[in-house]
Parts: sequence; C-alpha cells; structure tokens
Amino acid sequence: MSRTVDVLIIGAGAAGMFCAAEAAQRGRRVLLVDHAKKPGEKIRISGGGRCNFTNLHCAPDRFISENSRFAISALSRYDQHDFLALVEAHEIEWYEKTLGQLFCAGRSTEIVEMLRSELGDAGADLRLSVEASIPKPIEGGFSAMVAGEAMEAESVVVATGGKSIPKMGATDFGYRVAAAFDLDVTETRAALAPFTLDPSQKARFAALPGVAVDVEAEANGARFEEAMLFTHRGLSGPAMLQTSSYWREGDEVRIAFGDVDALHDQLKTQKATHGRRSLAVAMADILPKALAQVIAAECDAPGNMADQSDKRLRRIAEHMAHWRLKPVGTEGYRTAEVTLGGVSTAELDSRTMEAKRHPGLYFIGEVVDVTGWLGGYNFQWAWSSAWAAGQVA
Ligand code: FDA
Repeated sequence: MSRTVDVLIIGAGAAGMFCAAEAAQRGRRVLLVDHAKKPGEKIRISGGGRCNFTNLHCAPDRFISENSRFAISALSRYDQHDFLALVEAHEIEWYEKTLGQLFCAGRSTEIVEMLRSELGDAGADLRLSVEASIPKPIEGGFSAMVAGEAMEAESVVVATGGKSIPKMGATDFGYRVAAAFDLDVTETRAALAPFTLDPSQKARFAALPGVAVDVEAEANGARFEEAMLFTHRGLSGPAMLQTSSYWREGDEVRIAFGDVDALHDQLKTQKATHGRRSLAVAMADILPKALAQVIAAECDAPGNMADQSDKRLRRIAEHMAHWRLKPVGTEGYRTAEVTLGGVSTAELDSRTMEAKRHPGLYFIGEVVDVTGWLGGYNFQWAWSSAWAAGQVA
C-alpha cells in the first residue's frame, strides 16, 4: 500500500519551505522532505548569519538566464514587498545595509523559524534526514520511494537547489530528475565565487591579502561598482563575486580604481602639493598603501612626483583606470554562493514553474536556470518561484 499525498516537495530549503506553506494554505496535503538533518541550512549561513533575504531594487534585469524574460511573471506576482510584509508580520527586525539589500537585524535563523511556523501552521508535514528516489510518472501523478516507503503524489515539486557547497548537502538531484523526464538542463557552473590567481600573480600580490578597495569591475560587458578584496587564493569581495557570474575561462577582468580624469587630477594635485613624495607614497592617498606600492611599481615613474611630466601622470591615471587581470579560475562549488544554469526555462511555464511536457511536475528556486546577482536576489527568486508553484501544485 502506498501512502498518498497531494503534493510531494523534495528539498526543504528556502524555496521548498515557502512552497510547502503556500500549497498547504490552499488545503493541499503536503509532504516536504529533505535529506539533511535541518531545513534551510543555506538560509542559516547566508549573509554572514544575518540572511540578506531580499532586495528593494529587485527587477528582472538583476538575473541571469538563457531567457531573460522568464523570471518576470513570478517576480512581479510575488515581489520583494510581499516577502518583506511576511517578515514584518512575524515581527522580524530588519535593516537595509546597502544597495537595497535587506538583512535580519538579529539572526538568519529567524527566517528559518518563520518559514517553519508558516508551513507548520498550514498543516504541511516536514520530514528530515529522509532520502527520496527520482519520482516516476503514474496514472494521475507520480510515485517515489521516500525513506523506503512507497509514496504517491498528484504533484511533485523539485526544490533541491544547486550544486554549491556540497558539504552542506547540495546535490545534483534536481538535474537528475530533469534528465529522467527528458527535460533540457542548461550548462551549470559555479557563480558568485571568488577568483583564483596563478602562482606568479599571487607572488606579486603577496602583501595584499586582507586589503579591500572600491572598484568598478567588468567582465563580458557586466560592470559592478563595489568592493574588491585580495585573499590568499586570489580575489573576492562583492565586485569580484558579481563579476565571476559573467566571467569565462580565459577572460580578463577589467578593474578601474577610479575615473581617468579624476585620477589624473588627484595625481596632479599630489605633484603640486607633495612634489617630494615618491609615486607609491602619493598613490597611497588614493589607494590602500600596500596596493599603492604594487600599482606604483607597475608604472615606469622613477624619481619623485615633481619629476613626473603631465603626460606621464596621465599615463599613470590611465593605468589605474584600466587595470587588467586574468584569473586562472574560480574557487568553484566549494565556496560559490550559487549555481548558474539549471533546468531550462524553455521547459517550464513561467507563471507556475510546471514542466510543460509533464503536468504536475514543478521546479523552483536555484535548480532552475535563473540566477540572481549578489544582494538578496537569489532568495527573492526562491520566494517568488515557490509562491508561483504553491498557488497551483
Ligand atoms: P537551497 O539550497 O536553499 O535548498 C535545497 C534543499 O534541498 C537543501 O535543504 C538540501 O539539503 C536539499 N536537498 C538537496 N539534495 C537533496 C536530495 N537528493 N534529497 C533531499 N533533499 C535534498 N542568497 C541571497 O539572496 N542572499 C544571501 O545573503 C545569500 N547568502 C548566501 C551565502 C552562502 C554561503 C551561500 C552558499 C548561498 C547564499 N545565497 C544567498 C544563495 C541562496 O542561499 C540560494 O540561492 C537559495 O538558498 C536557493 O534556495 P533553494 O531552496 O532553491 O535551494
């Protein structure tokens, strides 16, 4: 005898928990399962323990997908203000950090508890430390083995996330479900991941780990004005994480420490006011001191500031505004915040997240080929796509 539920949701992360609450509120009998011991582990560790749960400026152009229009429907039907209203209804204190990024004022576990209480109050059943098999189509729905027990469900929602951070329980389960149903999966790769450098670059920057500087970074036409951080392995910080989502092997990353004219003016002022300073010392008024030494050494500028011609100062400003680096790679799924690519949006209905060729089968959250920028966008996609499926599954 099989146990029967209306909706089987596999993956109790951000999207799975929220979808379970929404579907159960409609009176559906929902079983939510996860192989991990605890639900929402990525929520817990997100945002440095404070969970950047959404972004006030959330808009479809902040997402990467083969179909840039796919996310529009879900993001507009359940948006950042809707999620914020839920957070406020649970009396969770929040604050805007920067660039519209909303964080918990307390701990990120408040968001996990909020979702647990929403799904519990709605009557959804949550089972943890449970393995589920790949669902199979049967008459009127799907069958799957859940913790060794045969289960039948009218709808199956796949919410198993991406491949990032395998040691936290990330698996390729969702992509394997897609393959079993002959659904196209776009190329997946680690995104929002720190860059790694080759040994000679690391030797050049040996004095820089821990140094942070505001830059404009660019790869493949995408530009981000945020902080860059030198690490022992390479480059991190929001500017580099954002750029990594657009970068491909062999590409250069262009880094501007400022605008050419403004940098030129700053150098001319240094020459006029501190002519006896070396370039490295003068540059330390513009960049962190250790970085100024590295950049100044790259410029052919013997003598002190008074010895530099206006033309040479211009060339130095240009060097600072058009600095280029060729990373060897990224740190990969070990530290990536998200997985780029996933279940092809061409296979899914953008209003419901249902597989067009397999009614009753849904994919939500990070497993779908919709990847947000850094800054709360990935959680908003989890909430919006989960809500869309939760109204119909
Ligand atoms: P999620 O990964 O949350 O959940 C998937 C669930 O499926 C997990 O509970 C997992 O155990 C389960 N699962 C996997 N395989 C399974 C299987 N075979 N059987 C059963 N269960 C299985 N985003 C953001 O917007 N703001 C932020 O501050 C951050 N910060 C952040 C920090 C770090 C360190 C990381 C790694 C990621 C972020 N993110 C983020 C990204 C965000 O965490 C991510 O996009 C969402 O959690 C995706 O939600 P999902 O529900 O799709 O997957």
